[in-house]
Amino acid sequence: AAIGSSGAKARDGWSSRSAFILAAVGSAVGLGNMWRFPAEAGANGGGAFVLFYILCVALIGLPILLSETLIGRHGQSSAPESVRRIAKESGKSSHWDTLASFGVLGAFLVLSFYCVVGGWVLYYIGVFAQDLFSTGVTGGAFEGRPAGDIEALLPSLFGNGGLMVGLHIAFIAITFYFVSRGVSSGIEWVATWLMPAFFVLFLLITIYGAFTGAFSEALSYLFTFDASKLTGAVMLAAVGQAFFSLSLGVAGMMTYGAYVGRDVNLAGTSGIIAGADTAVALLAGLCIFPIVFAAGLEPNGGPGLMFQSLPIGFQSMPFGSVVGLLFFVMVFFAALTSSVSLMEAPTAWLKDKAKVTRPMATLIVTVAALLLGILAALSFNDLSDFQPFGFIPLFEGQGMFDVLDTVTSKVLMPIGAIMTALFVGWVAERRLIDSENGLSGGLEKVWLFLVRWLCPLALITILIVGIFPSIL
Ligand code: PFF
Repeated sequence: AAIGSSGAKARDGWSSRSAFILAAVGSAVGLGNMWRFPAEAGANGGGAFVLFYILCVALIGLPILLSETLIGRHGQSSAPESVRRIAKESGKSSHWDTLASFGVLGAFLVLSFYCVVGGWVLYYIGVFAQDLFSTGVTGGAFEGRPAGDIEALLPSLFGNGGLMVGLHIAFIAITFYFVSRGVSSGIEWVATWLMPAFFVLFLLITIYGAFTGAFSEALSYLFTFDASKLTGAVMLAAVGQAFFSLSLGVAGMMTYGAYVGRDVNLAGTSGIIAGADTAVALLAGLCIFPIVFAAGLEPNGGPGLMFQSLPIGFQSMPFGSVVGLLFFVMVFFAALTSSVSLMEAPTAWLKDKAKVTRPMATLIVTVAALLLGILAALSFNDLSDFQPFGFIPLFEGQGMFDVLDTVTSKVLMPIGAIMTALFVGWVAERRLIDSENGLSGGLEKVWLFLVRWLCPLALITILIVGIFPSIL
């Protein structure tokens, strides 16, 4: 399925506009929505975080998303090469490609710890499947077992270094399989089958949660705005989450943009992608918190929310073991459509740079991310004292898993986004930008203003206040 880009030789790409939308929504919707968003909202005080998050998506995330896909489509290449081409065409220094090289590095780093969490999802699929066989369809999950037992599943997984590494390898191997098959027959296949399945399951489980759980309590927790809770750290967390969730700042969307046909309106599709991603994040909150509140548990965030509190919630619900199993299968679908995009960014780069075949490039990226991910997986157990960056305040007390998460979402993604905004707003030639963005009139002016001024200034401010809170 080649795309018809003005006379260029047929290259691998999305077979249609809807394939692109599904793949990009698949990249955006993932563990970031289902696991990280509710956990971050819980850890950062609920409503203040959520509302600031929505603001970040609309005013910063969306304009950057359009900028990234636009760079990709115009450059028709891996992210750094696309930036270099546009810089050259605009008569500017080709060194701007460094911005996208950092992005490629960022995607690689996210991939390494993302597949570790993907491994936990595989584990919970196994746990719920086993439970379903023993308790039957109608009962709640883990019938007759004390809540403490269910809660202990996660620490006991974390304590088992060998199992953590094995699950990580399994998840990254599945990702490798699809990426090595190429864009139209591998990545697109995953997106077009798994994303619709995800949406069906997601709607069913959310409706189920709304009827059987503490829905109104969750609603007021997520949407009550308390301005006093909006600190610099909370704002940085919200911006970081917005980028993580929209797959921005790490060359992922630039890479996907390169496979889009010329007939696609990028502004319109960016709106659909950002809208769908935000809707899923909010609904994930409205799916998970009612179940957690109904079980009388605290909403405090962190990794335990989805993997500990939620399974306890499923215990007291009718059909809990089936719904629990379907829930984790659905999260697996969402995670896989994201991990393929994380792997594609460095793979496309390597394929370009080293002139190797796709399977070879995919293999090299996989092995490297697998090794780094092992360090992340072991930071929960055997290597918990290995804190090589602990001397930097931002990484104080963090093992490799947390360092990778923090450095990507709170440093590389915001910096990648600032550079993208500056590049599109000030460096690239206007004519070229105008011909790609699919906007006209007032909307185009608004977008240019956001990209030129608001995005860079707001992001620089948030980065500084978030990283150095003491200056305030
Ligand atoms: N957006 C994905 C999620 O929310 O889980 C994670 C992600 C995918 C981040 C691809 C960055 C990326 F390039």
